Amino acid sequence: MFGFITFIKGMVAAILTVLQLFFGIFFGDFTAPTKPLQEDCKLNFAVISDVHMTEEKARADMLRFGLQDMQEFESPLDALILSGDITDHGEREEWENVANAFADYTPAKNIILAQGNHDTWTGDDDYALSREHFFEFNEKIAGREIDNVYYSTKVNGYTFIVLGSEADHTSQTVSDEQVAWLAEEMEKASQDGLPIFVINHWPINESHGLPETWGDAEPMPDDGGIGDKSAEVEKILKSYNNVFYITGHIHSGFTKPGQEDVYGYLSVESDGSFHSVNLPQYMYLTLRGRIANGTGFTFEVYEDKVEIRARSFSAGVWYTDYDWSFDLV
Ligand SMILES: [Fe+2]
Repeated sequence: MFGFITFIKGMVAAILTVLQLFFGIFFGDFTAPTKPLQEDCKLNFAVISDVHMTEEKARADMLRFGLQDMQEFESPLDALILSGDITDHGEREEWENVANAFADYTPAKNIILAQGNHDTWTGDDDYALSREHFFEFNEKIAGREIDNVYYSTKVNGYTFIVLGSEADHTSQTVSDEQVAWLAEEMEKASQDGLPIFVINHWPINESHGLPETWGDAEPMPDDGGIGDKSAEVEKILKSYNNVFYITGHIHSGFTKPGQEDVYGYLSVESDGSFHSVNLPQYMYLTLRGRIANGTGFTFEVYEDKVEIRARSFSAGVWYTDYDWSFDLV
């Protein structure tokens, strides 16, 4: 296993080095060092979404390519976040395929897992079992004991709030308790005066080109979004400064400013100092925007700004055209 993946990645690295020499001027520094742009970086983490693991070896290998890339970062990542649809159906065998891949690598110092709708589709629509699997494999993969699908954690002093769904529907089921909990956690986190990172598989309704980008022929307004509680969640998130809301679910590829008229969405949409970041899916080719798989973002957090950098973790190259930079307020 190691031999195969290491060999392929070595071949790719050699080819890329030659390509960079001749074409770097056109495509940016796609072989730039795998370390923060500046030395005063306070937090450096990676995010991928929609891994959709099955029992297939090919899917496990695809994940392993990314994990090995992260493991080989010159500056170790503080965290790796998976923002939902980690598995295709929340089955034990699928979770084991994920856990076995993680057991062979150290992609980051901390692992943070969020649930997606596919992770709740266990067995014969057995939500209770999917929840147990989520808890069990959180402990196995991330070493984190949780007793709810929503939880919060801190990395380098920065708060990460992870939301979840409380039923096995395509849109998110958010209880009043979860909404109240989110409000409390946001208030608590805001006391630190640092940016807050909220991880949720589901984007806010009608963001990132929804509902059209969800793909239904006759889309309803809530399609592809949080659903009923979207406005309540959005209001809480936008009550604070420097909030980065990180999602997946839509399976769209990267886009950059100027492409919103072509594709109908941007990968990062801002409202004041609230930034909604929608990830491409990792496992399949993206449906629109930059066609690719194996992609995600890294976040570099500084005293006064956050740099979001697009990367193909499977190929081990930066997609510098799709980078973002935000000053903190
Ligand atoms: Fe998905």
